Amino acid sequence: MKDERQYKTPFFTKLKAYGTSDVSPFDVPGHKLGRVKNDLMDFTGQTMFALDSNAPIGLDTLGKPHGVIKEAEKLMASACGADKSYFLTNGTSVGILAMIMSTCRANDKIILPRNVHKSVINALILSGAMPIFVKPDIDIELGIANGVFFETYEEAIRNHPDAKALFVINPTYFGIASDLARITELAHDNDMLVLVDEAHGAQFYFSEKLPVTAMAVGADISATSMHKTGGSLTQSSVLLTKGRRIDHVRLRSALNMLQSTSPSSLLIASLDVARKTMYFEGERRINKLLALADKSRKLLKQIPGIKIIDQEYVEDRPGFDFDLTKVVIKVSDLGLSGFEVYQKLRKRYNIQMELAESHIVLAVLSIGTTKDDLERLILAFKDLSDKYYKVRKRLPRIKFIYQFPETFARPRDAFHAPKIHVPLEETYDEICAESIMIYPPGIPFVIPGEIITKEVINDIKFYLKKGSIIHSELDNGNIKIIDKEHWIKWEGEYDEF
Ligand SMILES: Cc1ncc(COP(=O)(O)O)c(C=O)c1O
Repeated sequence: MKDERQYKTPFFTKLKAYGTSDVSPFDVPGHKLGRVKNDLMDFTGQTMFALDSNAPIGLDTLGKPHGVIKEAEKLMASACGADKSYFLTNGTSVGILAMIMSTCRANDKIILPRNVHKSVINALILSGAMPIFVKPDIDIELGIANGVFFETYEEAIRNHPDAKALFVINPTYFGIASDLARITELAHDNDMLVLVDEAHGAQFYFSEKLPVTAMAVGADISATSMHKTGGSLTQSSVLLTKGRRIDHVRLRSALNMLQSTSPSSLLIASLDVARKTMYFEGERRINKLLALADKSRKLLKQIPGIKIIDQEYVEDRPGFDFDLTKVVIKVSDLGLSGFEVYQKLRKRYNIQMELAESHIVLAVLSIGTTKDDLERLILAFKDLSDKYYKVRKRLPRIKFIYQFPETFARPRDAFHAPKIHVPLEETYDEICAESIMIYPPGIPFVIPGEIITKEVINDIKFYLKKGSIIHSELDNGNIKIIDKEHWIKWEGEYDEF
């Protein structure tokens, strides 16, 4: 039985009424609900601007909700099986910062997979928490990092019984979900909080056919990108919480420290309406999508040189589950790298994929994906296969990066240490003072406080050569390392490092 209250869109309804009222706005924003014409307005129409207001009477405040935002957040929590929800206007990135800052104090240990998003590394810097990295399952053939096995978390918990929290990705960028139910139970039995990154899992909340959600298994908190797969506008996400372990006063203060005092009303409204659509139509439309995806996978699999991940992939990986809304396509047997295929798909067929790795490209599907889109994808792969599979000369040099460099200092200490800027070649055996990663998917080669190895240097060079964008903080190719000569390492440093 559907809950009739979910038909309500409290924030959007009020915003619409305000934007279309005959108000004289003497507040910000300065476009005054669309009275200052510009090129964007010529294209989109005035309505978008009429809905872009700040905090007029009746529209509540995101930092301390008491009216329509509070009501909308309650509906979101209920739709997702959570006890409480917080709307976010700076993506899941800000949710991750707030969840770690509010649960881990300086020097608290947090157990987390190495293939975390960069916002997690930033959260380590802000909170001062001490990372205890665990190794995800690695697929050398596909060149991707997957979920973390239950036993790996179990061992980390055994070795670090004093850890404050455990961090789980549900699912990874490539759709692999760890055994969240068992991991959560184990963590709770050991008095640890369970923090979940559901940037790629918003759709799970609206279908029984997808992996379990953080809230369903009783995890304490999840950051969920409604914008990625739930249909809301880019940058709109939610924090969901369950149970009594979360300190909501601390969470609120972390959020208010990190979020703008002028949150976008368009983003908030988009969360409100996306929740309604997903609640009432999600299940039916996801079922339809899964049938389409299944058919497409079967057709793609028949194309020479193309391999596809599906449910079978997780069958010999105990406890793992697979998000069937992700289409992971292995292309390297065509004699092309994922990076090349990613570029060709856009240039020749006007197909924009989510990301590329050495061996694969990834398509993210949602209830907005059409049959036509999938047909175009299949045709494009047939064409690529015709062109490249038979004539393939030599497989591109396939490489897989997976670094677990040695930690010398906490990320926070490295961030605050004096630094020097040196060319990549000169960083061998130095202590890194920044996170270096490729984007997407934003997984770090090395993070602040870790020692730079030969492999790290070679991997960075490899990706640069392949045309990837390396996110380091300097524009001139130099890398920030710790100036060891002038660094007085903080006395209270933890023992291990
Ligand atoms: C695994 C993972 N976590 C978190 C994020 C951050 O999410 P958002 O883009 O909503 O800030 C991303 C973004 O790509 C991600 O891939």
